[in-house]
Amino acid sequence: MPSIVTIAAKKGGVGKTTTALHLAQYLGRHSPTMLLDADEELRSAMDWYEGQDGYQGWTFAAHPYQAFLQNEHLADGMTFLVLDTKGGEDREALVQLAQQSQLLVIPCKPEGVSSKGLVRTLQPLIEHAVSNYRVLITDVPSAPSMDGLNLKYALKEQGVPVFETMIRRAAAVGKAADEGVAVRDVKGDRYAKLINMDYELLGQEVLSHVQ
Ligand SMILES: Nc1ncnc2c1ncn2[C@@H]1O[C@H](COP(=O)(O)OP(=O)(O)O)[C@@H](O)[C@H]1O
Ligand SMILES: [Mg+2]
Repeated sequence: MPSIVTIAAKKGGVGKTTTALHLAQYLGRHSPTMLLDADEELRSAMDWYEGQDGYQGWTFAAHPYQAFLQNEHLADGMTFLVLDTKGGEDREALVQLAQQSQLLVIPCKPEGVSSKGLVRTLQPLIEHAVSNYRVLITDVPSAPSMDGLNLKYALKEQGVPVFETMIRRAAAVGKAADEGVAVRDVKGDRYAKLINMDYELLGQEVLSHVQ
């Protein structure tokens, strides 16, 4: 059975799809990986994936989650499944997602509304004594803003597991989505390389948790 890494958060717009796509590509450079898009309404991960054609050499594929449910053989031979979910799952769904995964990644932007959504995501997990989750702080504004670090230390102080790697904010991320590529393939933007480094470090951390 493949290791399942699920990306979920109550709130929309916190970077779930961006995280899922980059993580799937990172993992796909190491082992056969499939990205599953469980957001049937928006299908942003599928749109992103289908817009690109430069990744044939990688062991990386993408499918709608429904197709996977109807035919689990789709994932035969895969080492990793990365599941991109929609926002707003109810409490039970979140707990179930965590229980069926090796690791639940919860992206959060360091801003008030996003952190409030984070509390609502974490509550059911804590109540059900689920522990295989980790918060990813993403879209972190650059110095002199301390928002990213402040959130990281506040979470750590409360005993919430959080990735050491934070994903920095850069316009290159939006460009990548527009162009249907990963941020490492955005041309003419020097920040693209920096953000790619963030995703590489995140990928290493994820590997250390699922292997
Ligand atoms: N590191 C980042 N820097 C800049 N913009 C980002 C970053 N991460 C995400 N975004 C932007 O935030 C928005 C929401 O991201 P998305 O991955 O679609 O979230 P979700 O899947 O949770 O709804 C998108 O416009 C995306 O480009
Ligand atoms: Mg999404």
